[in-house]
Amino acid sequence: MGEIFNAVKERRSIRKYKNEEIPIEKIKRVIQAANWAPSNANSQPWQFIVIKGDYLKKVSSIYYEWAQEYVPKADYIPEENKTEVMEYSKDFGGAPVQIIVTYEFFKDDDNRSEEALMSACAAIQNLCLVALEEGLGTVWIAGHATHDSRTRSLLKIPTNHKIAAIIPIGYSADNPNPPARKDEGLDQKTTWFGFE
Ligand SMILES: Cc1cc2nc3c(=O)[nH]c(=O)nc-3n(C[C@H](O)[C@H](O)[C@H](O)COP(=O)(O)O)c2cc1C
Repeated sequence: MGEIFNAVKERRSIRKYKNEEIPIEKIKRVIQAANWAPSNANSQPWQFIVIKGDYLKKVSSIYYEWAQEYVPKADYIPEENKTEVMEYSKDFGGAPVQIIVTYEFFKDDDNRSEEALMSACAAIQNLCLVALEEGLGTVWIAGHATHDSRTRSLLKIPTNHKIAAIIPIGYSADNPNPPARKDEGLDQKTTWFGFE
């Protein structure tokens, strides 16, 4: 199996981190990887915000406050994961850095906004995969904290940008089992036409 496929399978969402700084070169490298993602008309509609110190706690506490209210009621989150999801968000498992990825949106052009979000998602996945290569764990955080006006003002998000992900990043202190993929044989998820 190829290296890229292996990385795709081995990447895990990490929710517990070592209390250890990450070299800035590694942070720059993962952002470089994000910046090499495909984007609509090569528009590269993303920005990156890298935070540490007091900023970390401020962002995670906004998520934590929302999670206490939202997660218990969310029927799509497996019951056995709820306690962990609610607890780790206090400080995102102690990650020493967070990278916030934003994308440009266009209030009069839904299609362009959607393509900008798609592009940002490709950038985020690149970032997470190259973080793995750098020996770093990540987790893609979305949810209310990404839209909250307190997060936006703290991070000085321009009015024409939205947050696609908050990504805690650091040396992993966990080795989670891969959560199963539904329909691994892909029989229900894939339709083939014209192959017979
Ligand atoms: C768009 C998106 C939003 C996510 N939001 C959260 C989140 O708010 N909190 C969280 O703990 N994990 C979040 N995750 C991570 C998923 O829970 C995780 O990817 C999934 O359970 C599969 O596990 P794996 O990443 O280890 O393969 C998110 C992932 C994606 C792609």
